[in-house]
Amino acid sequence: MKNLKLVAIATLTTATFLFSCGGDEKKETPTTTEAPKSMLEETPAAGGLDAKIASGKAVYEKVCQACHQADGKGLPATFPPLAGSDYLAADLPRAIGGVVNGLTGEITVNGEKFNQAMPAATLSDDEVANVFTYVLNNFGNKGGEVNAADVKAVRK
Ligand code: HEC
Repeated sequence: MKNLKLVAIATLTTATFLFSCGGDEKKETPTTTEAPKSMLEETPAAGGLDAKIASGKAVYEKVCQACHQADGKGLPATFPPLAGSDYLAADLPRAIGGVVNGLTGEITVNGEKFNQAMPAATLSDDEVANVFTYVLNNFGNKGGEVNAADVKAVRK
């Protein structure tokens, strides 16, 4: 582990050096969503999830909270709960699809029927991945992680 850290520092130093004299050329790596992580090497894995949850919280407060409420419990007959939602737990891709593509028609969440409309969110794949990761790890839900690729896969 120590060695890994040294390598990371060395890589970072080299990268900083290269960047400082190489201008601001951005290298796009379309196949992986986690490419820039090696430059930030701090606390692997755990830090990644925590960071996602933190940015997901910001998205939630800005976009979802108005309807689903700060406590994630929604409003009876109007906005379904995300807190302990069995609809969410039963089929995550379906739930993600509802957010990115919009959702209408009757659904049952925790035994209560809803028949309203959720407009498609105008958020990036990363923002949706983060907000779902936040929701899954809050409001009494069972945890988990959503990646940009999972969101992309259900977008219509
Ligand atoms: C304008 C209000 C509104 C906003 C904003 C909104 N939703 Fe919804 N959401 C709804 C409604 C209404 C439904 C139920 C639609 C139906 O009855 O078919 C729903 C359903 C859902 C469901 C499936 C049912 C459940 O409770 O598990 C999920 C998951 C969900 N929303 C997540 C989100 C997330 C995440 C965001 C923020 C990115 C968001 N919603 C933003 C109104 C909203």
